Amino acid sequence: MDIFRIEGPVRLSGGVTVNGSKNASLPIMAATILAGGKSVLSAVPHLSDISVCSQLLSELGCKVTRNKNGDLCIDSTVIDNPVGDYEIVRRMRASICILGPLLARCGRAEVSMPGGCAIGYRPIDIHLRGLRELGAKIHIRNGYVIAEAKNGLTGKELFMGGPFGSTVLGTANVLMAATLAKGRTVIESAACEPEIADLANCLNKMGAKITGIGSPRLVIEGVKQLHPVEYEVIPDRIEAGTFMVAAAITAGQLQMHNCRLDDMMAVVDKLRSIGVTIEATDDGCVVARNGSIKPADITTQPYPGFPTDLQAQFMALLSLADGNSIIIEKIFPDRFMHVAELSRMAANLRKEGPTVLVAGVKKLIAAPVMASDLRASAALVLAGLAAEGTTTVNRVYHIDRGYERIEERLNPAGAKIIRESV
Ligand code: EPZ
Repeated sequence: MDIFRIEGPVRLSGGVTVNGSKNASLPIMAATILAGGKSVLSAVPHLSDISVCSQLLSELGCKVTRNKNGDLCIDSTVIDNPVGDYEIVRRMRASICILGPLLARCGRAEVSMPGGCAIGYRPIDIHLRGLRELGAKIHIRNGYVIAEAKNGLTGKELFMGGPFGSTVLGTANVLMAATLAKGRTVIESAACEPEIADLANCLNKMGAKITGIGSPRLVIEGVKQLHPVEYEVIPDRIEAGTFMVAAAITAGQLQMHNCRLDDMMAVVDKLRSIGVTIEATDDGCVVARNGSIKPADITTQPYPGFPTDLQAQFMALLSLADGNSIIIEKIFPDRFMHVAELSRMAANLRKEGPTVLVAGVKKLIAAPVMASDLRASAALVLAGLAAEGTTTVNRVYHIDRGYERIEERLNPAGAKIIRESV
């Protein structure tokens, strides 16, 4: 198992290139199930979650390889085992997004129900409700979702809002299934996240007829078949946001390449109010902080609101603010595994339900800490860059799920992160 030893404090200065989006890549990989033949996806990052998804597709019957350019090639000519096994799904919840495309392509799918999750209870009831509305017969047996649509799916107008707003992968599942349904589907209260827009754009390139992309009302005219695709996934806005916080927390300056500010308005707005400057460039931006960190209030929301996937990283940043901040988590109310670990680094945090009061401190102090989930772990790395002393982050595999070799990308800009196998 790898650990990080992070020496701080440092001041980052240099450039960093943002990778393709993990959360766009995963549903797009699943979308290749919809069309027999060989698809080529570029800018898919080298992450453990991508490897798990590749294994999942291989078990269905697909052939998944990387070509010499690093593109991910998925040959989905044969799908002869429409089963998402528990052993894979338990390693990555996003596996559930094969359910819709398998059902549409094979008329049947068996996918393990995702189990517990470090960021809280994550039901899939809205996914199932949506697929049922399209005519699927669904039941749960031995921990598996068994879905059938022997005579195909039929388009329908359906509402996909839930207690916390829209659902990203629920929208992905129903959207993919609807592309091959008979007639027109309208998804009202669809997720508007850029990753869903990217999926919809990829599906259209495969021959689907989707309009309203990027809006909460997606309209899908079903087609008889889709064809394989060559597609490049969008840059990862969460990785970009994490690097922006790295520049901010170290009072440094980073030139970010391959970064789409248009996808990050809530984040950019918040950083500016905190005292961070962000200047757009041709392929990204320059992020810098000179003055003190101003306190801020953050409420996570579905896109275009502030993303839950950057809540932990901003908590690390605001721990060093000149005053008190409030962070309210409205997507995953229990997503606070980082609070106890940041407190071990001398952050002054008080959690009350889905709210954390962050009283700014003058400095963070290094400590051994435990990575718990992907974004919580990223917050610990950020805190380690700014803390006095050597922070040890255990269970680095959580970080490797979503950030490709983060140490090799931040060290050239002045970070001192050493990976060790223990
Ligand atoms: C996606 O998860 C992302 N994962 C998550 O990123 C991200 O945190 C989340 O969206 C929210 O933005 C991928 O894209 C692979 P949701 P998803 O369904 O789709 C409730 C990361 O760190 N809900 O949009 O599973 C749910 O409990 C990860 O990269 C239901 O009630 O999230 C939550 O409160 C972690 N019923 C809210 O909706 C359902 O059927 C939003 O969840 C589905 C969801």
